[in-house]
Amino acid sequence: MTIHLSGTDRAETERLRERIAEVLARARTRTIGLTDCLDEAELVAQHSRIMSPLVWDLAHIGNQEELWLVRDVGGREPVRADIDELYDAFKHARANRPALPLLSPVEARSYVGTVRDKVWDVLERSPLHGGDLVAEGFAFGMIAQHEQQHDETMLATHQLRTGEAVLSAPPTPASRVAVRGEIVIPAGEFTMGTDTDPWALDNERPAHQVYVPGFAIDAAPVTNERYLEFMADGGYERPELWSERGWAHRVEAGLIAPQFWEQDGGGRWWRRSFGTMAPVRPHQPVVHVCWFEAEAFATWAGKRLPTEREWEKAARFDPNTGVSHRYPWGDDEPSERTANLGQRHLEPADVGAYPEGASPSGVHQLIGDVWEWTASGFEPYPGFRAFPYREYSEVFFGGDYKVLRGGSFGADAVASRGTFRNWDHPIRRQIFSGFRLARDLRPEER
Ligand code: AVJ
Ligand code: FE
Repeated sequence: MTIHLSGTDRAETERLRERIAEVLARARTRTIGLTDCLDEAELVAQHSRIMSPLVWDLAHIGNQEELWLVRDVGGREPVRADIDELYDAFKHARANRPALPLLSPVEARSYVGTVRDKVWDVLERSPLHGGDLVAEGFAFGMIAQHEQQHDETMLATHQLRTGEAVLSAPPTPASRVAVRGEIVIPAGEFTMGTDTDPWALDNERPAHQVYVPGFAIDAAPVTNERYLEFMADGGYERPELWSERGWAHRVEAGLIAPQFWEQDGGGRWWRRSFGTMAPVRPHQPVVHVCWFEAEAFATWAGKRLPTEREWEKAARFDPNTGVSHRYPWGDDEPSERTANLGQRHLEPADVGAYPEGASPSGVHQLIGDVWEWTASGFEPYPGFRAFPYREYSEVFFGGDYKVLRGGSFGADAVASRGTFRNWDHPIRRQIFSGFRLARDLRPEER
């Protein structure tokens, strides 16, 4: 069957091709920026047992791109079929990756470059329609998201490394409005997930109606100032504030403050951020806390973490129209005025820095700054279909994972939206994780 494209369709297809080229190039600039600043020894080193050596991420990015875009979409011969096994995340635990016969930094750079050159050619020839994988450029969008997700993981590895600072970025914008208190989201249905966002990943689908009882959600993420109050009130010493599992982890891991915090002789707290020490900033969202710390804080505050559906309703539902949007501010792509994304700044911005990014009901900084822990485990939506591979989401469902929402300063706009779902183990805190609180409505508020 021949598909005839009208003039407008053709123009649209060309615009899509340009957009794909742009997001792929943006991801590669980021990848190169995160790896060119370190010497060979640092690229192959194990900066932490829970992370891969950076050179593994680099070649894994290229290998996924080769598998999906060169071989599958392009139908081309393999570039390096011999290395698939080395870069299969399910074959080797992160701790064991430094001992593998990995490509050297020089080889890895050359490999990702060769793959990308072939991808430019595949992109040039792809009709970008017909067949689920290339329809609306999905496979290209998926690979751009994959690279950006690894770029965020590589940024977390940078944060774990010791030694001189090699990354820098302009300071975050200052707070422009006072944001306090909570926002009431009345009971009712809303559309959760999506069928129409062309690059939404399998776990964000399908769209479905969900009834959410009324709830209150904090207008802003929990700040360092509030977190210091929890610490000063014995938050880390009172088992009654923690779940049984949380307390066991608190004791075993010796948690006394968020990761990367240090106290000086005068009792003042400092935070190490990419090799630079700075005093803890009171109005900045707390970052590098695990789910168990968020849970204990919520108990101390007399509240709870929002469920995933509550978070998504707060982020997407416009009560004036009943429509679920892509972002709190509507459907426009994130910009530097609406969200702290894309490693433009290397830390969360103070509360109130993004008034234009707020939702219609007045919830701020849902997208960007910090990933927000939710109360929910990672589960499929009704009608879920694994696509294009089970290992992206399906194998993680029902595991020991909690969902995080919203994206951090380290996440790119291509991999952050109101429907996007991230997940990790509840003990993890090397990720750029914070949280906000919610609660049930009291009878007189309903
Ligand atoms: C969605 C961030 C949990 O990094 O494990 C990267 C993304 N999947 N390569 C991860 C992912 C395959 C994933 N997270
Ligand atoms: Fe991966």
